[in-house]
Formats: sequence, structure tokens, C-alpha cells
Amino acid sequence: MRFADQVAIVTGAASGLGRAVSLRLASEGAAVFGVDLNESGLVETESLVTESGGRFTYALGDLSDRMTAHGLVAQCVDTTGRLDVLINCAGVLRANHVTDVTEEEWELIFKVNVAGTLWMCQAAIPHLLESRGNIVNIASNSALMGTAYTAVYGSSKGAVVALTRAMAMEFAKKRIRINAVAPGGINTPMVASPKFPDDADWKLIEPYMGFRRMSEPEEIAAAVAFVASRDAAALHGAIVSADTGLTAG
Ligand SMILES: NC(=O)c1ccc[n+]([C@@H]2O[C@H](COP(=O)([O-])OP(=O)(O)OC[C@H]3O[C@@H](n4cnc5c(N)ncnc54)[C@H](O)[C@@H]3O)[C@@H](O)[C@H]2O)c1
Repeated sequence: MRFADQVAIVTGAASGLGRAVSLRLASEGAAVFGVDLNESGLVETESLVTESGGRFTYALGDLSDRMTAHGLVAQCVDTTGRLDVLINCAGVLRANHVTDVTEEEWELIFKVNVAGTLWMCQAAIPHLLESRGNIVNIASNSALMGTAYTAVYGSSKGAVVALTRAMAMEFAKKRIRINAVAPGGINTPMVASPKFPDDADWKLIEPYMGFRRMSEPEEIAAAVAFVASRDAAALHGAIVSADTGLTAG
């Protein structure tokens, strides 16, 4: 029960990793406040968490909009009275040849993955300073190595890594921890959806999957829970790879 009496915001809670993190933190005592665009997914997460004896409330919203992100954090604090943990799981992935990337793809990916993470951190930090809480951002192996056909996504996750480290430095003398977990492939709806170009050269992709298996969302959620817990008191500004060895070489 590492999160007993704590309140955690989990973005992207309607699906995949965000759902698994919600279940994990709730199973360890947190009151989880889920945020997502997808209401039916949030309702399903709510059922799964409450059926397993946990606490879960949610709010719908597009966190890539600054005022919306601030409103979501305010709603959480107004209803629960505090905030101890922010887990930024919401994200989008598009695959394309770099020469075919559109402005729409670029803007969507950077708005959600980078601006959304920034706005949520910005809104949450004053409350986390009060509770001596912490933030876990979700980066990706594609921030730490070259991945073909996902130049924009990889750039956005590189920005998440830089944002995490910069914020960690800015608050290095304060009682708040800011870290990121960088997963490799996770078995979630996100990886079922990206349409790689029809003429994609799979030999370019094999080296970073090959014999290494995908992780289950629950495995990554366990790593996220560790980083968010007091067990990880020494972690600040860390980018924790949880990628079944992908970035090991
Ligand atoms: N699945 C993988 O292989 C993988 C690997 C490395 C990193 N990641 C990262 O893990 C995180 C979770 O991904 P996932 O695999 O669970 O994906 P997912 O598609 O299952 O879930 C992402 C969730 O984010 C929500 N979302 C998207 N845009 C939003 C917005 N503007 N406002 C609010 N919510 C929004 C979606 O509705 C969805 O519920 C993402 O940041 C992703 O980039 C995933």
C-alpha cells in the first residue's frame, strides 16, 4: 500500500498503459483521478478499478489545451483535496516516411505528447510541492535510439526526456521528484494502430524488436509505480528504461 492516502492523476487512463497504471496505483491504495478524451474507456477503467476494490474518478478533457489541462488538475484538487502523484501516460503515435510527414501529424504529436505533458506538469507542480509529491512522464525507447518511420514521435519523446531533465534541475532544491519511464514496445491499442508505410523496410525495424518481446502494460505499470513510490526516493531526473533490453544494444 505504497500510495495509501495519496491522490494520483493518471492521464491516458482510458486505455493501455494509463489503465494499467490506474489499476496498479489504486491496488496500492491511491485514489486515482483519470483523465482522457475517451469516455467509454474511462468508464471501463472505472469498472475495472472499482471491481478490484480501488478508488477511481475521472474527468474528460483534451490536455493538449493549456487551460483544459489546468482545469483538469484544479478539478482533481477541488474534489479530492490534494495531489501527490502525476503520471503523464496520454500520448499519440503516427508512423510515416519522414519525407511524407504532414503538418497535421507534426502538430498533433507535439501538442499531445509534449505540450500536453508540459501543461499537466505546470498545473500540478504547485500542488506537488505542497504534498512533496512526484511526476512520472512516459517517454519511449524511440527517444533514446533511432527508430525508422517514427521521426516525429521519436522527436516528441526526446522532448519529453529533455523536459523531464530540465524540470528536475529547476526543482532540484525543492521537495518534488520528476522522472520519466521509457518503455519499449507495449502490448496496447497504440501498437495495433500505427499504419507503417506500405513500402516500409522491415529490416530497419527488426533490429529494435527482433528477439526482444513486447512488454505487457502491467509490467510497465509496475515500473511506473516503483518510480512514483517512496521506494524510489533517490530517483530525480532519471529516465528509467523499461524496454526488455531494446536500448541495451
Ligand atoms: N504502446 C507502446 O508500445 C509504447 C511504447 C513506448 C511508449 N509508449 C507511450 O506510453 C503511453 C501510453 O500509450 P499506450 O500504449 O497506452 O497508448 P493507448 O493509445 O492505448 O492510450 C493512450 C491514451 O491517451 C489518450 N489521449 C490521446 N490524446 C489525448 C489528449 N489530447 N487528451 C487526453 N487524452 C488523450 C487516448 O485517448 C488513449 O486513451 C504513451 O505516451 C505512449 O507514447 C507506448
